[in-house]
Amino acid sequence: MVQPYNSSDDKKNEVRAMFNNIARNYDLLNHLLSLGIDVLWRKRIIRILQSYKPDNVLDIATGTADLAIMAAKVGVRSVAGIDLSEMMIEEGNNKVSACSLTKIIKLEVGDAEQLPYKDEMFDAATVAFGVRNFADLKAGLRDINRVLKSGAPFIILEFSKPVVFPVKQLYHFYSFYILPLLGRVISKDKRAYMYLPESINVFPAGDDFLEIMSECGFSGLKQIPLSFRIATIYVGHKS
Ligand SMILES: C[S@@+](CC[C@H](N)C(=O)[O-])C[C@H]1O[C@@H](n2cnc3c(N)ncnc32)[C@H](O)[C@@H]1O
Repeated sequence: MVQPYNSSDDKKNEVRAMFNNIARNYDLLNHLLSLGIDVLWRKRIIRILQSYKPDNVLDIATGTADLAIMAAKVGVRSVAGIDLSEMMIEEGNNKVSACSLTKIIKLEVGDAEQLPYKDEMFDAATVAFGVRNFADLKAGLRDINRVLKSGAPFIILEFSKPVVFPVKQLYHFYSFYILPLLGRVISKDKRAYMYLPESINVFPAGDDFLEIMSECGFSGLKQIPLSFRIATIYVGHKS
């Protein structure tokens, strides 16, 4: 299993430590390293979410709350955001306050694999760039399924791998050479931006990921490749 620091600690502790380390610079690096494209991808998720008209949404691995804030801004009445990393949640809470959205968005520290919510609570759930970091992917997806109402959508945005020439080759060079260098200089965390392409490389994408969603209780599945498949949106519904 690819882990951020490849120490003897388990993946969950390492992921938490890594995001605590990079939380202060996370937004800057996110937008810089993706050349701002991540914002367009998140907007796409929000358009899909809006089509379901959910009242209450759970944003898992919410990080600094970008997606939660976008959901609240398009009229979702209540957004719960949960994340393993205390520092990411702190950054998120600062942004939620700055946007005067504290009545709508509630963020808390917690684990996607053991969500602190009752069964069938949410009209919809989202995860952006989070599932790749779960220590136990299926445990996470199953617990997300548990807290969704029957038929509710689960919308995931995750990196995948481009397959066409020359995007595949350019992307490989960028993600394994340029991105770790810039990430190391700005975040001061040597491993965080090496872990990013390594974890994308081993993560099940496309049909393989849909298969796992199906095993975890989702149906009505579809995938939407974005930007030559650099990322993919997956949509499923609680069966
Ligand atoms: C790449 S960040 C994405 C943050 C945010 N969703 C975004 O789009 O910018 C991944 C986040 O997943 C969180 N995470 C990883 N495993 C988690 C788990 N088991 N439960 C909750 N959050 C988790 C990390 O702490 C981190 O904040």
